[in-house]
Amino acid sequence: MISKSQGMPNTPYLDASVQWRIKAGTLDLHESGYRSTTESILACGLATEVVGLISAGKEADVYLARYRGAPLAVKVYRLYRTSHRGGGPIKADALGWRTAHEFEMTRQAWKGGARVPAPARRVENMFSMRYLGGDDGPAPRLHDLRLEDPEAFLSEVLAGVRALVHAGVVPGDLSAFNILVHEGEPWFIDLSEAVRVDRTGTSPWMRLSEAETLLRRGMDALQGYFRRYGIRMDPDSFVPDALGSFDRFGVLR
Ligand SMILES: Nc1ncnc2c1ncn2[C@@H]1O[C@H](COP(=O)(O)OP(=O)(O)OP(=O)(O)O)[C@@H](O)[C@H]1O
Ligand SMILES: [Mg+2]
Repeated sequence: MISKSQGMPNTPYLDASVQWRIKAGTLDLHESGYRSTTESILACGLATEVVGLISAGKEADVYLARYRGAPLAVKVYRLYRTSHRGGGPIKADALGWRTAHEFEMTRQAWKGGARVPAPARRVENMFSMRYLGGDDGPAPRLHDLRLEDPEAFLSEVLAGVRALVHAGVVPGDLSAFNILVHEGEPWFIDLSEAVRVDRTGTSPWMRLSEAETLLRRGMDALQGYFRRYGIRMDPDSFVPDALGSFDRFGVLR
């Protein structure tokens, strides 16, 4: 049903961003960063073995690890971020907070039955979760795939977004980059910027309009992906409809 598009990396566990960073010299696998992160993952007991790097992002790296043989993904927020202006590394604040937030959002979504990797444990700036993928490598991102039945897959994605919202979680960075395709199904990852819509506390108006803005942006990003198949989406009705059950006061109407 799904085929990998050209240009996908052949080397297992190293995606294009990792390979690019090694080539460009911004990431050195033998540098103490990799080794000391591996040591911290083992020392705090998140895993009993670190297999290798799956992805090196702007703010976090994701490792394939094992806990007594069982595979796990471990996301590690970096303590330093590289400055975009090409200067030295800048210290990023509150990474423990970001990790805790993503862990909590993932847990909330998972408890509510949404298709997210089951979170396992968090320690400081690292957390472990179910590994999505197989022996031949991690599940590909939707962005890197050419779907054979895009219409059917889009309805799976929309049902998945509804399930997240139903669980009270609105993803802040929804796009084809943050959906992994595992066993033919969409899995939602990277809930670091997600917000809760089922909470009282802030006023419903603030909460719902923020959720609406985020969801709207996510739907636009997905629209950008599905346009390659000539499929048009209808965020104007989807977004208020998905948030409808939380909108007791008619804020979005
Ligand atoms: N549970 C998982 N199983 C398998 N692979 C995963 C898992 N979680 C993340 N990955 C891989 O790691 C990549 C990056 O993960 P994620 O999107 O959570 O990080 P990121 O926050 O986008 O990084 P950055 O924002 O710093 O670029 C994903 O595209 C995917 O390839
Ligand atoms: Mg991401």
